[in-house]
Amino acid sequence: MKLSLSISLISFSFCFFLLIASVSSEERASTPPRGWNSYDSFSWIISEEEFLQNAEILSQKLLAQGYEYAVVDYLWYRRKVPDAGADSLGFDMIDQWGRMMPDPDRWPSSSGGNGFTEVANKVHSMGLKFGIHVMRGISTQAVNDNSPILDTTTGRAYEESGRVWQAQDIALKEQTCAWMPNGFMSVNTDLGAGKAFLRSLYQQYASWGIDFIKNDCVFGADLNINEITYISEILKELDRPILYSLSPGTTATPDMAKAVSGLSNMYRITGDDWDTWADVAAHFDVARDFAAAKMIGSGGLLGTSWPDLDMLPLGWLTDPGSNEGPHRACRLTIQEQRTQVTLWSIVKSPLMFGGDLRNIDNTTFGLITNPTLLEINSYSSNNAEYPYLYGAYPNNRKLGRSRMNPTSREESEVEVLGLTSCKDPKASGWLVKELDQDLERICWKGNMEGRHGEPFCLSKRNSLVESDQETLHRSQYQGTLQLLASENAEFCLDASPGRKVTSSEFTRGSFSRCSWNANQMWEFHSNGTLTSSYSGQCAMRKIVKADDTASGARAWIATGRSGEIFLAYFNTNAIEMLIATHVSELGKALPGRNITSCTGKEIWTDTSYERPVTDTIATVVDSHDCALFVFNCN
Ligand SMILES: *[C@@H]1O[C@H](CO)[C@@H](O)[C@H](O)[C@H]1NC(C)=O
Ligand SMILES: *[C@@H]1O[C@H](CO)[C@@H](O)[C@H](O)[C@H]1NC(C)=O
Ligand SMILES: *[C@@H]1O[C@H](CO)[C@@H](O)[C@H](O)[C@H]1NC(C)=O
Repeated sequence: MKLSLSISLISFSFCFFLLIASVSSEERASTPPRGWNSYDSFSWIISEEEFLQNAEILSQKLLAQGYEYAVVDYLWYRRKVPDAGADSLGFDMIDQWGRMMPDPDRWPSSSGGNGFTEVANKVHSMGLKFGIHVMRGISTQAVNDNSPILDTTTGRAYEESGRVWQAQDIALKEQTCAWMPNGFMSVNTDLGAGKAFLRSLYQQYASWGIDFIKNDCVFGADLNINEITYISEILKELDRPILYSLSPGTTATPDMAKAVSGLSNMYRITGDDWDTWADVAAHFDVARDFAAAKMIGSGGLLGTSWPDLDMLPLGWLTDPGSNEGPHRACRLTIQEQRTQVTLWSIVKSPLMFGGDLRNIDNTTFGLITNPTLLEINSYSSNNAEYPYLYGAYPNNRKLGRSRMNPTSREESEVEVLGLTSCKDPKASGWLVKELDQDLERICWKGNMEGRHGEPFCLSKRNSLVESDQETLHRSQYQGTLQLLASENAEFCLDASPGRKVTSSEFTRGSFSRCSWNANQMWEFHSNGTLTSSYSGQCAMRKIVKADDTASGARAWIATGRSGEIFLAYFNTNAIEMLIATHVSELGKALPGRNITSCTGKEIWTDTSYERPVTDTIATVVDSHDCALFVFNCN
């Protein structure tokens, strides 16, 4: 009794020492992991030479920006022969214990049972970390061979209850991978032999020097919580810190994520992302839901875990599941690419570049190394979709200017500028707000209708450099002014004479691109009316029931390490759009902040906001494009 007590005390203090050692080592994935993955540019057919060429460039050009994981994606064990494809059976290299081994024709350094040891050494010598993709469970080929299972504690076949266990004892044949039914199936983790098999895989990966495992066909629609749970236990016990990444994310939900977050370091929350606008657009709602569920940067395997929006398919690519290497350029427009990197960054998704690095172009390089985006991606907090948006379509496609009620589309009301008779006492709601000599704003103060308390302001348009033609126009429209939707957006209030007047007094106004046009000219009178030079009618604000006006405008907000505010606008519509919010509403999205004024810049257009913005933050955003503001506010 005494003896065993002192032994356990010794082992306790030994464990305690290990605990201290692992506590003092850095927490895993403390920021969203970054790197390169071979799938988008090579599908499954990459060779050792091509992989190392990419790793070398990763190390030289991107490691300094935190891109540290070089990851080989699926089927590195499949022989590249004429009949082999992404779901063919019988072409894989497996060892005597039913474990996948790199195809020696594609990975020559793996010959003689070396596995990935040599590749890992080379990748490490470049200062990088090395990752591999693995599928769920066990391969059909190992099951067909009925391979014995390695017991890593004895180095011999696994025995229990007086018999040797084999692949067919642990395989769950009804749980094949739905998207690769010929390739892999789950193993029974209730059995000692099932556990021993998984242990034999992951101990081998660790012995090769692997730093990152992307475990596929275990999450989302393919959820296999038993396998994830047991692999996570194995990884915890290994002395090598291996990041654990789960895939794919088709139909993944925040509830599902809550079950795996603590067991992993990243997990996909959508299906595969390719270079189509539909794929990019499909990430907005999902990202919003995972942020709202507080899953971004929640507790993970020996550290932190991150919802993963998938690789960035930018630059030089191949096609999904093909037997062809990189051969074509990304099909997203530059606007769509900007939107993708901006969204991925502010959602704090891991950033895994997918294009062939040997052919990376400057634009793509600039996008994935943008310092503001990388700062946001690593160090921002309070990241969430931002709902307090106003939208406007130019040229009167729909409403003038609208306000979305973030909580319920059905019951939402919109704030619009309309026209009414200048004799209508309700038209006298305008005040001139003077900030300084150069800038005047005209704000609607009168007849505040209920809940929307913020002033609705328009800025006077001033041309700094006037052409002769403009001087001529100015004299033509003497005493009138043009009114911008906001200081930095060249969209002017427009009396829209082309529209049918559907009610006797009221029609919806609009903003259109500023031009010297009578329907953009207004006169301000001291009795608080704003008269259209074109129609003689007066502008006023009204609250009306919404149709879906600002839909398609999305925004995200986050705070930075130094208290700065990041605000991204996204236009998912097929036409350009004016997107706006009130400064006072930023505080609603940021706990404990009361915000009345901001200065800063928009990074994609390099527009400065040096003068404090106190009411509307508005800008025109191209179709599928985005704007990213960095503000200091108080
Ligand atoms: C890309 O950038 C490099 C380095 O700044 C420069 O030398 C090269 O001319 C650029 N290429 C293009 C196509 O802009
Ligand atoms: C405001 O002043 C203008 C110009 O004098 C006039 O035409 C208009 O009827 C006045 N409106 C009201 C409501 O007082
Ligand atoms: C925010 O600050 C303004 C100006 O100091 C003040 O009037 C307002 O009451 C504050 N609001 C909140 C919610 O603290």
